Amino acid sequence: MEIETMLRAYMPESEGMQAELAEAMRYSVFTGGKRIRPRLMLLAWEMYGGQGENPAPFMAAMEMLHTYSLVHDDLPALDGDTVRRGRETTWRKYGECMGILAGDGLLHHAFETAAACLAHAEYPERAGRALHVLAQKSGVSGMLGGQAFDTAHSGDALTADELLGLYEKKTAALISASLMIGAILAGADEGDVTILEQAGIRVGIAFQIRDDMIDSAEAPETPGSDARNRKTTYVSLFGMQAAEEAALRYSEEAIALLRGLSADSAPLQQMIRRMAVRRQ
Ligand code: IPE
Ligand code: IPE
Ligand code: MG
Ligand code: MG
Ligand code: MG
Repeated sequence: MEIETMLRAYMPESEGMQAELAEAMRYSVFTGGKRIRPRLMLLAWEMYGGQGENPAPFMAAMEMLHTYSLVHDDLPALDGDTVRRGRETTWRKYGECMGILAGDGLLHHAFETAAACLAHAEYPERAGRALHVLAQKSGVSGMLGGQAFDTAHSGDALTADELLGLYEKKTAALISASLMIGAILAGADEGDVTILEQAGIRVGIAFQIRDDMIDSAEAPETPGSDARNRKTTYVSLFGMQAAEEAALRYSEEAIALLRGLSADSAPLQQMIRRMAVRRQ
């Protein structure tokens, strides 16, 4: 399944009264993201034989939710970033108002896309559960709750426990949900879904630690977003070497959990190992 083609099929066209909104939404999505969340979802689905519901609408919905989180994360009121993926951030290109609304649009369209498949689902209860996981992990007790804590404590010295709790929400929640939803749609049993949730949390924490390392490696004359916003990060607390070790350790913990699954997780393990050493 070509993820870019699939995403294009689910994004709204820039036409009618909502043309400007849809254009800003499309600009935000089609700028060369790594698409790791839909890829993780697809791997989890394939791991259970790819049986049951086609995960495409949920893969698209997940990438829309992730993109909404980035579009709002870059706003002046949050991280105030002007460049993402080598291009102007959405608010910088279309103005702050459209930056806010494009994020809202992606959030709404994610749920519209995922909910639309309930009506013709082969296994409606699976699609319903997947929709609940999507809502929960992106919402108040998940990604959004993490972003709110991050914003409220910008400039504060956080403890290691607070920081890891924050990473579990702001970043790991969507990564964990991606694995869970892929497995749920394929008909995996409850025990396996719980293991994937736990493994996904560790993958997500490793992912955010690597993100902090990439941010802090920016040239000294152009400090990264985290330094500018005086964020406590894994690197600011423990240094680069410890961060490198922690990213590998959390990834290995995730892989150890995957070994307890009833299905063959070798391709997923491979992807987790590649993510742990990523440079972008
Ligand atoms: C960046 O996520 C934000 C974090 C949650 C760390 P990605 O690194 O997956 O962003 P894209 O989609 O590939 O640009
Ligand atoms: C944000 O973390 C994670 C989100 C939920 C968007 P960051 O603020 O570190 O993400 P980047 O580095 O801007 O992508
Ligand atoms: Mg941020
Ligand atoms: Mg940011
Ligand atoms: Mg970052």
